[in-house]
Amino acid sequence: MAENRGVVFLGQNKVEVQSIDFPKMQNPAGKKVGHGVILKVVSTNICGSDQHMVRGRTTAPTGMVLGHEITGEVIEAGSDVEYIKVGDLVTVPFNVACGRCRTCREQQTGVCLNVNPGRAGGAYGYVDMGGWIGGQAEFVFVPYADFNLIPFPDKAQAMEKILDLTMLSDILPTGFHGAVTAGVGVGSTVYVAGAGPVGMAAAASAQILGAAVVLVGDMNTDRLKHVADVGFVPVDLREGDNLGELIEKILGKPEVDAAIDAVGFEAKAQGKNGQEAPATVLNSLMSVVRAAGGIGIPGLYVTEDPGAADAAGKTGNLSLRFGLGWAKSHRFYTGQTPVLKYNRQLMQAILHGRIPIAKIVNATVISLGDAAEGYKAFDSGAAKKFVLDPHGLLGK
Ligand SMILES: NC(=O)c1ccc[n+]([C@@H]2O[C@H](COP(=O)([O-])OP(=O)(O)OC[C@H]3O[C@@H](n4cnc5c(N)ncnc54)[C@H](O)[C@@H]3O)[C@@H](O)[C@H]2O)c1
Ligand SMILES: [Zn+2]
Ligand SMILES: [Zn+2]
Repeated sequence: MAENRGVVFLGQNKVEVQSIDFPKMQNPAGKKVGHGVILKVVSTNICGSDQHMVRGRTTAPTGMVLGHEITGEVIEAGSDVEYIKVGDLVTVPFNVACGRCRTCREQQTGVCLNVNPGRAGGAYGYVDMGGWIGGQAEFVFVPYADFNLIPFPDKAQAMEKILDLTMLSDILPTGFHGAVTAGVGVGSTVYVAGAGPVGMAAAASAQILGAAVVLVGDMNTDRLKHVADVGFVPVDLREGDNLGELIEKILGKPEVDAAIDAVGFEAKAQGKNGQEAPATVLNSLMSVVRAAGGIGIPGLYVTEDPGAADAAGKTGNLSLRFGLGWAKSHRFYTGQTPVLKYNRQLMQAILHGRIPIAKIVNATVISLGDAAEGYKAFDSGAAKKFVLDPHGLLGK
């Protein structure tokens, strides 16, 4: 039996690389299927979404293999796979999607109806997302391969840009989805909440969509410096508790055309105290977005948060000033990103040198064996996007 190793969640703030089973051509219910492939993982990234689980802020079970951001080479294809071939180097959307249900047919692959008995939407290595085994590993099983996978047109060219292309599995489409659903277009003024990798990807996306100016707010010194280094306008949220006033100092008025929440439910309050305040981003975005503007919300909100400060938060109830958004005719767009809607176009943008996403998120390669250190450094707020290199193929 071939061997495999993967990053296993062992409880709050504890992950470890362990021996795990070599992938089988079967779904989480144990049914043998012919529509999937086994991938040798070429790159797999650590995400802020993983951190919610590792910090103990979800009901993720221990023993779960983590990892939903996967790029790999097909080493075995199931009997029903017709178009994906052994040897293809492919990007894997983090969503597991069947391609056959009503929502998949509507391109809403983030909420596929057939891949998770518990609720709509599946993903690899993620709590409540159907039990698909994660890809922070040497090898992983990917179902519905013909539907989900996009092979890169030229493997040698792809390996040269692999640190950019690895962002297609999640954060680049996620940032792009945030910007598109916020209504960003030519000449827009844009505020992005959060200078983590998703916020940086949203900023890069706003830029290629034609934004006039992109502000990125955070309270992390290293990340704010990185925002400026790659050409966006940092907003240091420690300088005051009123977002509009901080924006006015830069733009001359306390308003933007579009805003993106790239923080989610573990948001901290602005200003000096910095306590956790789960609704703060949504409330402040309603206060600064223009009337009839849009708010894209890729930042993750949960239905169960065992680590919440109060009873309401434990079931994902937020103290939202919804009336403000209503009065301004705002539109809100939530949910898991339907990666397949965007990843082909963004792949072309990368291959043709239009979006240097690896630089913008500061992609940083580490070995699979160093995953626990990577989780720790990312949790402490490093201005980096960690890319795991399970087979030493990334040349770093
Ligand atoms: N919708 C999706 O499909 C999808 C996909 C990927 C990630 N996500 C989510 O996107 C969010 C961001 O991911 P990431 O990897 O960049 O995470 P991250 O934790 O690295 O970044 C979040 C940043 O927000 C900052 N922050 C905290 N409070 C803030 C506030 N009030 N205003 C502005 N910034 C604040 C933090 O200092 C941190 O730098 C997470 O919630 C993640 O789960 C969603
Ligand atoms: Zn992710
Ligand atoms: Zn489906």
